[in-house]
Parts: sequence; structure tokens; C-alpha cells
Amino acid sequence: MFNKKASDPKNKPDQIIEAIALKPGQIIADIGAGGGYFSLRFAKIVGREGKVYAVDVNPDFLEFIKNSAKEKKLNNVITKLTTENRLDLPEKSLDFIFMRNITHHISNRVKYFENLKKFLKPDGRVIIIEYKPGKSLSFRGIFGHHVAKEIIVREMEEAGYLLEKEFDFLPEQHFTIYSTRYTSTTR
Ligand SMILES: C[S@@+](CC[C@H](N)C(=O)[O-])C[C@H]1O[C@@H](n2cnc3c(N)ncnc32)[C@H](O)[C@@H]1O
Repeated sequence: MFNKKASDPKNKPDQIIEAIALKPGQIIADIGAGGGYFSLRFAKIVGREGKVYAVDVNPDFLEFIKNSAKEKKLNNVITKLTTENRLDLPEKSLDFIFMRNITHHISNRVKYFENLKKFLKPDGRVIIIEYKPGKSLSFRGIFGHHVAKEIIVREMEEAGYLLEKEFDFLPEQHFTIYSTRYTSTTR
């Protein structure tokens, strides 16, 4: 179900991939990987020298991703079972952390975002795509599956990040990219 939505052309997956500009050999964590649509696309781009950590709280989703990666002969996808308070990733290792439609699940986001920094390389980036608040009587409205862009930007700044880029081509979501405060470009 997640992959059907993620791959739907109206959600512009190709443009998302293009905007991230991931390169061969890079390392990315897809946190809240769901059905793994983006994890597998990233795995093809980063190639044998790169790595994708597909991270989720749901072991069944991770099993599905593991099997899909195996079928597609992608040996660079590593699945990681997580809880909100325990992320098992190597420190200072990631070029990117990608979070699509997951921040609404996180309760103390500032603390969560602060903790992510230790897994990033000094020039690492955090990519957040999240639903904009829509109609209050929609499924997303009723279940609170959205966070306004202004809230995410403020929380990321509180957590010590700088908003570096934002894209407005997605119809239902906002899409922002952050660096940590002191990267080689801001120093
Ligand atoms: C709406 S789905 C999005 C899936 C995928 N990112 C996509 O765009 O297709 C949200 C995913 O986040 C996972 N999730 C929820 N809370 C999480 C947490 N604290 N850490 C990691 N994953 C989480 C859920 O199990 C689910 O797979």
C-alpha cells in the first residue's frame, strides 16, 4: 500500500529522487521506510560502494524490504528495526537521512531530530517530506497524519539544523532539506 502511494506519479517520486541528487557510493538512511519504495530506488543509485539503511518500527515491513532487495539483487540494503528512542545506526556515517511521511508519528520531535545529528557525516543532510495539514474531515485530518512545514522548520532549527533547500512541487506534502549548523558551506 505504501509503495503504491510512493510510486504514484502524482506524488512525483522521480522529481524527489532528482532533487536529492544522491550519488554512487553515498550512504543514506530511509527512516520509516514502509514498503521500501524509496530505499530500493536509493540502493540502485548508490550502487555497490554505497549503502542504504532501511529503518522501521515494523519488522514485517523490514522483512518485505529485505525480500524485495534480494529479488532485485540489491545487496546494499541493510534493514534496521528501531524504536522511537533507539536508533541503531553507525555514528558519523550518513550522507543523508530521508524521512517521508513519518514525522507525524514522532512524539518529541526536537529531541528526536537532535539525536539524528550524531549519525550524520559533518556535511550530512536531513531530508523531510511530510503531509501538509489538509481538510480536517479527511483521513489525514482526523488521524493527525500531517505536520505543517513551519512547525518542522522551527523544530529542526531548535534541534540545531539550518534549512538549506525547499521544494514546492509536491501537491500534498512539503519537502525540505537541512544541514547541521556548522557545515563546510556555513562555516
Ligand atoms: C506513512 S508510512 C511512510 C512509508 C515510507 N516512508 C513512504 O514514504 O512510503 C510511515 C512509516 O513509518 C514507520 N514508523 C512509525 N514510527 C516510526 C519510528 N519512530 N521510527 C521509524 N519508523 C517509524 C511506520 O511503521 C511506517 O512504515
